[in-house]
Amino acid sequence: MAESAKRIRVRHLEEKKQRGEKIAMLTVYDATMARLLDRAGIDVLLVGDSLGMVIEGHDSTLPVTLDAVRHHTQAVARGAKRALVVADMPFLTYQVSRAEAVRNAGTLIQGGAAAVKLEGGRAVVEVIKRLAASGIPVMGHLGLLPQHVHQLSGYRMQARSQADADQLMEDARAIEDAGAFSVVLESIPAEVARTVTQELRIPTIGIGAGPFCDGQVLVSYDAFGLNDEFVPSFVKQYANLGEQMVEAAREYAEDVRCGKFPVLERLAGGPAGNGSGK
Ligand code: KIV
Repeated sequence: MAESAKRIRVRHLEEKKQRGEKIAMLTVYDATMARLLDRAGIDVLLVGDSLGMVIEGHDSTLPVTLDAVRHHTQAVARGAKRALVVADMPFLTYQVSRAEAVRNAGTLIQGGAAAVKLEGGRAVVEVIKRLAASGIPVMGHLGLLPQHVHQLSGYRMQARSQADADQLMEDARAIEDAGAFSVVLESIPAEVARTVTQELRIPTIGIGAGPFCDGQVLVSYDAFGLNDEFVPSFVKQYANLGEQMVEAAREYAEDVRCGKFPVLERLAGGPAGNGSGK
């Protein structure tokens, strides 16, 4: 089977690490973008709780509900044929009890995710063990934990002191031992990420954590220039789709107002419907 068609499984990520191949991951929230990113060969599609900000317009991930992540996971799973689909567990869906965590993670798996992601280190070890024992693969998330934004006093780089870097290393070992299959490292110094990456058997996926991780993840709206608000300095913008959309919408509005669109000829003989396939 061609590489582009083979479904990526959790074990493939560890194999990639062993072979020294980097893992490319992006966030995605709908079926159309999932299809496009799948075609581009992105390995992992994360239905991130960043949807609270980029889709729902909140200023943090804290208001995101399980229903919202499940809804977007279902859409992404319909669009992705090859990539591994990972769904974020929202705030308060895994902290209260292990039984609740299994039920909530199971809901996301039933929605089409192949794995879930949750934030934290030693504090969530028992949850990770229980999910793994239930057959639910878990991606960890260490460093800057957006669901802890108030406790952290904002979105700031973590593990800057040696003591904090040592704590992070302990957390990373603990979640690997608990059965996590990979871990996101967010906003930590590149040298700390390098050490964690060297020490762990499971792959590390960095965001704002330098070039030494086993893979990288970006919020797709940041990477494609769709986010016209704050964009973190570590982000590389690979396109300026936001400006292109504004220009296209302006041109469309002008055409409608001056009668240039629609034209009669294009109505004849074509398929009916609204262009969305309906
Ligand atoms: O929710 C999200 O988009 C994330 C990524 C930033 C890793 O957790």
